[in-house]
Amino acid sequence: MNYHIATIPGDGIGPEIVREACKVLDQTGKVFGHTFQYTEVLMGGCSIDAYGVPLTEEALETAKKSDSVLLGAVGGNVGNSRWYDVAPNLRPEAGLLAIRKGLNLFANIRPAYLYQELAAACPLKKEIIGEGFDLVIMRELTGGLYFGERWTKEVDGVMTAVDTLTYNENEIRRIAVKAFDIAMKRKKHVTSVDKANVLDSSRLWRKVVEEVAKDYPEVTLTHMLVDNCAMQLVMNPGQFDVILTENMFGDILSDEASMITGSIGMLSSASMNESKFGLYEPSHGSAPDIAGMDVANPIATILSAAMMLRYSFDLDQEASAIEKAVQQVLTEGYRTADIYSPGCEKVGCSRMGDLIAERIR
Ligand code: IPM
Ligand code: MG
Repeated sequence: MNYHIATIPGDGIGPEIVREACKVLDQTGKVFGHTFQYTEVLMGGCSIDAYGVPLTEEALETAKKSDSVLLGAVGGNVGNSRWYDVAPNLRPEAGLLAIRKGLNLFANIRPAYLYQELAAACPLKKEIIGEGFDLVIMRELTGGLYFGERWTKEVDGVMTAVDTLTYNENEIRRIAVKAFDIAMKRKKHVTSVDKANVLDSSRLWRKVVEEVAKDYPEVTLTHMLVDNCAMQLVMNPGQFDVILTENMFGDILSDEASMITGSIGMLSSASMNESKFGLYEPSHGSAPDIAGMDVANPIATILSAAMMLRYSFDLDQEASAIEKAVQQVLTEGYRTADIYSPGCEKVGCSRMGDLIAERIR
């Protein structure tokens, strides 16, 4: 088959890691008889430089017309870059929020899995790691605080800023359904994370999630408050299967979950709409401090490309081939700087891509 992929290299390390993911995709295509055609799209700081806005209508249209989107990362050093001397809706991250909204990508799937090979890079104690962990965060991506009304102005002579957190029952239901569907293919346990002891939006969240759970009698549902969840993730990560949560909680918890896998450079992600269309990106940022130095870890982006094959194109075998190649490279002892431990061989971004591509079969 022939697939059209819109690539968004973005800023910082984005171009380097997307290049490696395309390298691995191309090799996978060669081995399994597919072709991938790429159309590059600007978003984030590079789009601001070229067009004055972080995402143009044309860029969004190109993404819409593609079979799926592969994204690196956007943004620069907040507070220390020309991209941030402008209104919030013109900053690089606004492009990311706009494309998520524009493509209706409400379901963000972020798996966190501990490779035994990386146990040394995991900051948790051995007793806590135990048998390891394998969890998925299902983060609502187009609602809540990041999309609510916001303003900053003087009220009675005092500077005041407001952000609003809104969810309606339909938004909650559709993401809950996605979480239960994925749980059915895994260990059949959903932990719904909220702040129902304080927030109205969380109380509605809990009620709707409980309604959805009735359609999945095989799945165990647990509710957990977000502050407790942050603690449980570093105390007993093995207890989780699918964590279902709203936008901001998912943003924060997914960084935490990625770090306990050894490095945020390992965590892939898929953002999906109602159909099979998706945008695939690493969960990490653009790491401007190491951009262009060929030291970034491309694995999260490569694993995101594997998710694309599985979720958007139904190419399970091909996706597994990429995941196995990553596993093999780690078993053989190759590491980028972020996951390096003594006794391993340190390699750069591009070499890591080569090593993984060579092992696709
Ligand atoms: C992420 C990022 C984004 C988010 C930022 C860059 C807007 O942190 O994908 O987790 O908060 O969603
Ligand atoms: Mg984040």
